[in-house]
Amino acid sequence: MVKVKFSGFGTDKEVEIANGEILLRAAKDAGVKIPCDCQDGECGSCVVEIAYTGNKAPECERLDSQGKELTTLIGRGVYTKADAEAFEMSDKAPSVRLACQCIVRDEMTVKPYKG
Ligand code: FES
Repeated sequence: MVKVKFSGFGTDKEVEIANGEILLRAAKDAGVKIPCDCQDGECGSCVVEIAYTGNKAPECERLDSQGKELTTLIGRGVYTKADAEAFEMSDKAPSVRLACQCIVRDEMTVKPYKG
């Protein structure tokens, strides 16, 4: 199980979820309302900011540099193509993610993305 804290979505909540769960699904199960539309990584409405509080995230929370999540985040102006290249070259875990695409592997605190 993995500890996830939701903060700033109305009521703060801390839950334990199964390793490998999709973040958006975990939020719904916990009664946390993260805006979402497509639930498929394309609309960008579920963008959140994540603080990794465990010690495994840098290796396992990398974005797929060719994937639609990164394309959507670049389209929304969250990241640039240079950021995408930097993610590919390092183990740094990106702090802004799409909740519908983020697979939870380690402890984290999730907040609304303020831009
Ligand atoms: S709900 Fe559309 S990108 Fe996540």
